[in-house]
Amino acid sequence: MADSGRILITGGASGLGRALAQRYLRDGWQVLIGDLNTERGQETVAELGELGRIVFRELDVRSPESFEQVRAWLEEHWGGLDVLVNNAGVAAAGRIERLEDEDWRWIVDINLLGVVNGCRVFTPLFKRQQSGHIVNIASMAGLLNPPVMSSYNVTKAGVIALSETLRYELAPWDIHTTVVCPGFFQTNLTESLRSPEPGMAETVGKLLTTSELSADDIAVMIRDAVARKRFILLPHKAGRRARLIQRLLPPVFRRQMRKLAAGYKRKLDDS
Ligand SMILES: NC(=O)c1ccc[n+]([C@@H]2O[C@H](COP(=O)([O-])OP(=O)(O)OC[C@H]3O[C@@H](n4cnc5c(N)ncnc54)[C@H](O)[C@@H]3O)[C@@H](O)[C@H]2O)c1
Repeated sequence: MADSGRILITGGASGLGRALAQRYLRDGWQVLIGDLNTERGQETVAELGELGRIVFRELDVRSPESFEQVRAWLEEHWGGLDVLVNNAGVAAAGRIERLEDEDWRWIVDINLLGVVNGCRVFTPLFKRQQSGHIVNIASMAGLLNPPVMSSYNVTKAGVIALSETLRYELAPWDIHTTVVCPGFFQTNLTESLRSPEPGMAETVGKLLTTSELSADDIAVMIRDAVARKRFILLPHKAGRRARLIQRLLPPVFRRQMRKLAAGYKRKLDDS
């Protein structure tokens, strides 16, 4: 792939998506951000516009038609696309018996089917081009499956499974896949958090602030992983350590997870 190119970032009006937009603009890329939040999308374009060519299009990842409109725009105005980043996402946390049916459908529609939609709509274009790179933003949650986060974990594990499938399925067309599994980092993610548990938004908010990495740090790591056509990226050192323990020392990992669950039991059963 060329040093500079064309990138579409879903959820590009905030957090990691915005940091990626900034990173790629500085590298001389043309950036299209697609987001449900029109106000923030337009603000982002106004703020980052001086860095290079950035366009905002309203996009709801739940809608294949919405993706089709963006694809048509990209083909007409930029002649195609080099990198698709399926980044848009929301958060949920709560005990399994408390998460509502409607909340499960909401998070699956955005975090999992939203990524599926992006891949389905852009794969035919990438196949015609015989080039393209799909970057799916999952989470360490999709590998570690911590307690009290079932719906979020399931969507992110699904994104990892989808990415592993496409990695092989699309390779014959020279289409590459990268899946990113960050731990917590500071963004506006808690704004979207749905939780039936009192105090959960504060707990998650605190976890986001403890991160060893910023969204900008992770954006640089993603840019480098894409340039090197790396499949999986675990940006956080703590995440890589947890994954190693999970794989190499399963009894230690199980003990940690049981401890975490017992902590939640004490905290949430009293509330
Ligand atoms: N922040 C973290 O700690 C963390 C950790 C691991 C993974 N992630 C993942 O990183 C990705 C980016 O999240 P973030 O932390 O930057 O959060 P964020 O809330 O700052 O940004 C998410 C963006 O997605 C947009 N969005 C939500 N629903 C949408 C929809 N239906 N269609 C289009 N856009 C939509 C929002 O408007 C927002 O601009 C998400 O997939 C999230 O799950 C975040």
